[in-house]
Amino acid sequence: MIKKIISFIYPLTRKIESVHNGILELTQLNGKVYLDTANTNYSYGSLQKILKFSLLQVDLSKAKNILVLGLGGGSVLKTIRKDFNYAGNITVVDFDPVIIDIAEKEFGITNDEKTTIICSDAVDFIRNTNESFNLIIIDLFIDNEIPKKILLPEFWKEIIKNTALDGYIIFNTLCKPFTDIKPIEDKLRKRGLDYKIFRYVENTNKVLIANCKPH
Ligand SMILES: C[S@@+](CC[C@H](N)C(=O)[O-])C[C@H]1O[C@@H](n2cnc3c(N)ncnc32)[C@H](O)[C@@H]1O
Repeated sequence: MIKKIISFIYPLTRKIESVHNGILELTQLNGKVYLDTANTNYSYGSLQKILKFSLLQVDLSKAKNILVLGLGGGSVLKTIRKDFNYAGNITVVDFDPVIIDIAEKEFGITNDEKTTIICSDAVDFIRNTNESFNLIIIDLFIDNEIPKKILLPEFWKEIIKNTALDGYIIFNTLCKPFTDIKPIEDKLRKRGLDYKIFRYVENTNKVLIANCKPH
């Protein structure tokens, strides 16, 4: 409690080292805790606003099964549950045990009846699952970079395969540094999927939102 009060006067920052994500910073500011890396916000700051903006573009009314690739501090889970009143299943995948520990201890994100947290590489997970999801959120970063394998057609083939009919894909990327998503756009077009791209969301990010419409 005393830390929360001090955070209204000075930001309090704690650093945690991770093999996968480098130095992670937990900053308490004005009573709220944010998760950052050296060059970007991971959770509860602008990232949470970008994903909320993205969620407002999709229809979750019939959704029962959501996949989130990239846990961070789990801010999008709080948005989905609280702001969108979603009570269905959420599976979250992250390959960093340090992140999973932070999400639990600092932000109270744990496994429950409707939430499954899986420690795995996202590429391996999507390759090996047969589940169908009404929404897949791809929010995979190492600091301010998207791992190259996430941009490969093989990954997107699996993503599309696991998206339910009339389901959605939200892909959070960056305008700066520039992320080339043209090959992904080509793949989506070839497969007949509708998509939109929103640029400079929160002044920095580029978000691709696709819909697997029934034909
Ligand atoms: C921006 S954070 C996710 C934020 C989160 N969606 C939220 O709402 O708070 C990006 C996450 O991607 C994870 N990540 C990066 N590459 C990954 C991979 N290949 N497989 C699984 N997780 C990965 C990182 O460990 C990090 O936790």
